[in-house]
Amino acid sequence: MHCGILGRAAGSVEGFEYSRAMRDADITWTAEALDRFLQSPFAMVPGTTMGFAGLADATERKQLVAWLATLTAASPHCAGLVNDPGNTKEMK
Ligand code: HEM
Repeated sequence: MHCGILGRAAGSVEGFEYSRAMRDADITWTAEALDRFLQSPFAMVPGTTMGFAGLADATERKQLVAWLATLTAASPHCAGLVNDPGNTKEMK
C-alpha cells in the first residue's frame, strides 16, 4: 500500500483491510500530510491500527517521505501495483 502513495486518498487501496479511522480519514497523502502522519500516526488518525509510534526526527521523516515519493509505477519495487485499479493481488 506504499506504492503510488503520494497524491492518493488515505485508506483507498482496494482489498486492504484498513481501520475505520483510516477509511474515514479525509486525507490526501501529500508530502506534508505524510510528514505529519509519520511524526505521530495516532495523533493525526486517532484509532489507526498502524503499530508505529512515529518518527520525532524531522530529517529522518524528510528522508522517509522522499523515499515514499520514489514508489511510483517507475519503481521496479512497484511493478504492476500502481495505476492498475484491478490489481488487488498484493499490497506493498
Ligand atoms: C517507515 C515506517 C512506515 C511508513 C512510512 C508507513 C506508512 C503508512 C501510510 C502512509 C499508511 C496509510 C496508507 C494508506 O492510506 O493507504 C500506513 C498505514 C498502515 N501501516 Fe504503516 N508505515 C510505516 C510503519 C508501519 C509499521 C511498523 C506497521 C506495523 C507494525 C505499519 C502498519 C500499518 C497498518 C496496519 C496500516 C493501516 C492502518 C489503518 O488502517 O488504520 N506501518 N502506513
